[in-house]
Amino acid sequence: MSQQEHRAQRREAPEPTEGNLAVPKVVLAWILILIFWGVGYYAWQIGKPMLGGDSRSVVSQPAPATTGEGSEGATASSGGADGKALYSSHCSACHQASGQGIPGAFPPLADSEWLLADPAIAVSIVHDGLQGPIEVHGDTFAGVMPNFGATLSNDEIAAVLTHVRSEWGNDASAVTADVVKEHEERFGDRGPWTVEELTDVFGEP
Ligand code: HEC
Repeated sequence: MSQQEHRAQRREAPEPTEGNLAVPKVVLAWILILIFWGVGYYAWQIGKPMLGGDSRSVVSQPAPATTGEGSEGATASSGGADGKALYSSHCSACHQASGQGIPGAFPPLADSEWLLADPAIAVSIVHDGLQGPIEVHGDTFAGVMPNFGATLSNDEIAAVLTHVRSEWGNDASAVTADVVKEHEERFGDRGPWTVEELTDVFGEP
């Protein structure tokens, strides 16, 4: 009987043990590299505009082929740019589909005195951006409105402004690409406006 047991014991390998080997240095080095990369990437992005999504814009996509005469659709005004579509892709993330903005963060466009005044004001804001405090409907907002002069063509700026000036009960005149062109000729590539600069140049809305 005990003979049998010994034979069985000799046949088996010893139980594996965990041992006390240190974590390999390469693994530690990798962990450090990944931490540095992660923190570094995060720090690198601080302050960059949050474009959301994959940052594609309508202009970077190939224009749809418009064959021949009968191209229908929302191409009635402003050289074919679709103001409503431009609004959804470029503005509604902040100003909301309802045009009501977000209290405390993004001002409303519906019934906004700035938007409905002289179109040159709205063109300036959208073309060059706006920063510093602004009062809309008695509420003060202190955010940063990005500029669209480099992203949108004159036609597109005109189309999106024509759209917002006639949406949500707004009832102001259409904006033409010529107004945007005049703006560019007058102000060139200036930085973002402040409310003081706007009222100095265009008067109170
Ligand atoms: C990233 C968010 C953001 C986007 C996108 C954006 N805006 Fe704005 N917009 C703002 C903020 C914030 C202000 C207020 C800026 C300030 O406090 O000085 C503002 C102000 C304005 C104003 C003047 C204030 C008012 O309520 O009338 C107009 C007009 C305007 N935006 C139109 C547009 C249009 C048109 C688009 C799309 C082409 C657009 N905005 C896209 C954030 C945005």
